[in-house]
Order: sequence, then C-alpha cells, then structure tokens
Amino acid sequence: MKRISISETANKAGEKVTLCGWVHTRRDHGKLIFIDLRDRSGIIQIVFTPDKKEFYETANKVRPEWVLRVAGTVSARPEKMFNNEIPTGKIELQPESVEILSEALTPPFALDTNGLEIGEENRMKYRYLDLRRDRMKNNMIMRHRVIKFFRDYLDKEGFVEIETPLLTKSTPEGARDYVVPSRLHPGEFFALPQSPQQYKQLLMVAGFEKYFQIARCFRDEDTRGDRQPEFTQLDMEMSFVEREDVMDITESLFIETVEKLFPEKKITQKPFPRLSYREAMEKYGSDKPDLRKNKTDSNELSFAWITDFPFFEPSAGSGQGKTDKGGWTFTHNPFSAPKKEHMGWLLEGKNIGEILTTQYDLALNGFEIGGGSIRNHRPEALKAVFKIMGFSDEEIEKGFGHMLRALEFGAPPHGGIAPGIDRFLMVLMNEPNIREVIAFPKTGDGRDLMMEAPSELSMGQLNELGLDIKKK
Ligand code: AMO
Repeated sequence: MKRISISETANKAGEKVTLCGWVHTRRDHGKLIFIDLRDRSGIIQIVFTPDKKEFYETANKVRPEWVLRVAGTVSARPEKMFNNEIPTGKIELQPESVEILSEALTPPFALDTNGLEIGEENRMKYRYLDLRRDRMKNNMIMRHRVIKFFRDYLDKEGFVEIETPLLTKSTPEGARDYVVPSRLHPGEFFALPQSPQQYKQLLMVAGFEKYFQIARCFRDEDTRGDRQPEFTQLDMEMSFVEREDVMDITESLFIETVEKLFPEKKITQKPFPRLSYREAMEKYGSDKPDLRKNKTDSNELSFAWITDFPFFEPSAGSGQGKTDKGGWTFTHNPFSAPKKEHMGWLLEGKNIGEILTTQYDLALNGFEIGGGSIRNHRPEALKAVFKIMGFSDEEIEKGFGHMLRALEFGAPPHGGIAPGIDRFLMVLMNEPNIREVIAFPKTGDGRDLMMEAPSELSMGQLNELGLDIKKK
C-alpha cells in the first residue's frame, strides 16, 4: 500500500493506511504500549496491545528516533482520550504490520523542546538532528514559502531570475573576500562574491531590464547574531528606474509577503515611514531605528526606509579593498550614484563629506534588512568615486576596467536593492539569531562543526595548487 503522510490520517477513521516516520515517544503502560510516530507533517499515536504478540514485541524493542513503516487501521479515539493539541488528536492507529527501517543511537540532546536551551556546539555538530525539532522544521518550511513567494511575485512583475558566478574576482564591497586558489593558474585566486553587485549591473547593460536572484553571498567578517559569513540575499536590479520605483516594488513585495504568509503579524505603518540618515541619527541615534509601538509584541513589524546617507566617510585606513590614500572611503556601495544635485561635486571631487548618495536602506524592528541604490551608469561618475578614494588610474583600470568598459557600451540608467533573506526571516519567525533560520550555518567563530570545516589540505592538494602554508 502506498505510504501517506501522517497529517492525512486525521479524517480517515475506519481506513487502512501505511505510514513511515520516526519514533517520537514511546510510553509503556504495562499492558499497552503507545508509540507516537512522527513524520514531516505531524504525529500519530499507535496503540500496541499484547494480543498482537509480534507487533507488541517490536514495540517493546524500539527506541526514540528509530525509523518505522507501520500499516494498520485508523480508528476513532474514545472521546475522553482526545488530544486537542494536535490535528490527529481524535484518532489513533491499530497496527497490522510493523517494520523497522532503521535503528538509531540515543540522540545527544532532546528533540521535543525548542532547543534554545542546548549548547551551540552540540546543536551544530548534530545539526541533522537539531533540524528534526518542530521549531527548526517550521523555520525551514517558512523559509521555503517566503522564497517561493518572492520568486512568484517577481516572475509576475516581469523579472528574470539569472544565476551569476560564485568563482569571481576580488572587489571592494566593505568586507574581506573568501578566496579560492586556481589550480590551472598557480598563484592566482578567485574570490567568492560578497554580492552579485557587478554582475547584476552588467545584466542591465546586457538589456535584461528586470533581474533577480536568490543569491548566496560570502563575506569574511566576524560573525554576529545577525551576520553569517555565508548568507542569502534577494538580489534585484531594474533599468530605467528612479529611487521611488525600486522602493515601491520592494515595499509592495514585503507587505504582500507578510499579509499572505504571516496573517497574524501587524505592520505598524503603511506606507513605510521614511527618514533621512540625519533625522534617524538625531531622533533615534541609529540608522536602523526600531519604530515598533510596542516592543514586546512579537507580532508587530515596523519597517522604515532610511535615505540620504553621506556617500563618503573619512577612511580609517583599514579593510580590504578600501584605501586611505584619498582619505575617504564609501559608506555603503561604491557603485551608487550620488543624489542628482551632488553629481557636480562628485565629478569635481569637491565637498566630498557633503555628497549624499541615492542609497536607501530598509530597517525592520531595529535590523537593517536591505539596502540598495541607483547606480552610476556614466563611466566618468563611477571613475570619480574611485578617484576620491585615492585609486590611481592604473588601479582603477585593473580593478574596474571591465565595469567602465561596459558602461561605455550604452548602459541604461539602473538601480536595485538586496534584502537579506536570513535577517527578514529571523524577525518574522521571532528568532534571536539568523542561525535559527539557516539550515547549516557557521558557528560564532566561523566554523562548520558538523563537516569539520575549514580543514587543512593534503600535501598533494597544496602542491597541485602551488601553495605553501606559513606555520604561525
Ligand atoms: P549590503 O551590503 O547592504 O548591500 O547587503 C544587503 C543586505 O544583505 C544582508 N546582509 C547580511 N546578512 C547576513 N549576514 C551578513 N554578513 C550580511 N551582510 C549583509 C543585510 C543587508 O541589508 N550589493 C548591495 C545591494 C544593492 O545595492 O543592491 C549589497 O550587498 O540584510
């Protein structure tokens, strides 16, 4: 008989079914043994009685997390045995065959709690078990639904999803790059993208007009609660648009996502309030203010746009790709255009500290969940940004010649945004940390404890790559 999922049994009293899943709990009541069998969809109670000796003996043997296939008849529970907390609480299963598909070691921690009480090391080492808990399963399924909603929405709006390379070139985006050595070109390295920023702009030059990607990004920076070395953006770019157009579509997308998938949530203010960077700093002392009316209400979502950021700030002289030679570095994105009225200053390298960028950030409950801008589609304006940061003509050509060249071949005015999917989900799911909404995240010190990565390479691999390791 074809296996069905446990949730489907709720209204099948009197029918024969075959179920597969994990032993969630096993309760021995002397004569009766109850096993709660769990699959992705839910839990069902199976009742074993001594008169069915063979199954009873199996039930006696099984332990939590063993994997079973059970066929039997669904029967209505006596009314006083109803469990109104689960959808299958009015029925149970009378087994007619039981097969052990897999035995299991005793799990290193409880799986029927929310898991937040368990040390991170253990949870990450045995992540495949940690993901069995209800809360984590639910987070993964909601993540899938949100991403599917984004895809469908943007598809309807005429966006094309295009994948861009993961093996690419080191460029400045504010963090350090993860690099990958090239075997075919010893001594040369690819970099993993900090974001698909340049590729998406090149796709606008290529004429795609509306692009999006569920894009994996890599940044070698210290991990925090809302920061992972590897994370996912909803990366978008559009041609022939102004700042308002990008903000409008992003706002509609977020409102619809929340209203369709999280009807229990309330958005504090629609349309989203807008604050300039200066206002936000003066009023709230933060460029990602938390504007909730009731900060203890986990169902309140307060979105806010922050605009009019300074383009440049005095350079601290550190950070890969940034330079202190010009004394200035970008605050957000070197590919952004300045506000129209400040283009003259940018081109002349004047009043640098006063130049405002077209950057817009989206804040949600005190987190920055997205950022974007209108870009410099004129090559001389992009070049002016790098000049202000102190790059020589030669360095600009080496690092960004490809972008400048592309902009010389009929680049449409364009702009975009990249909401961080992990952060958005963390807030929606009321989680304290983005690790809770990522299936296989890195630990606080940037490791994958389950795979034991990063790890050393063999001498053979190092030789092939032409690498020598300096021992510290
Ligand atoms: P930005 O660097 O602001 O912009 O990133 C956009 C959004 O990505 C999320 N984010 C992160 N999430 C988890 N871990 C991290 N380490 C991390 N870093 C960033 C945040 C952030 O708002 N290319 C531009 C976008 C554009 O201009 O279109 C960019 O990457 O939610």
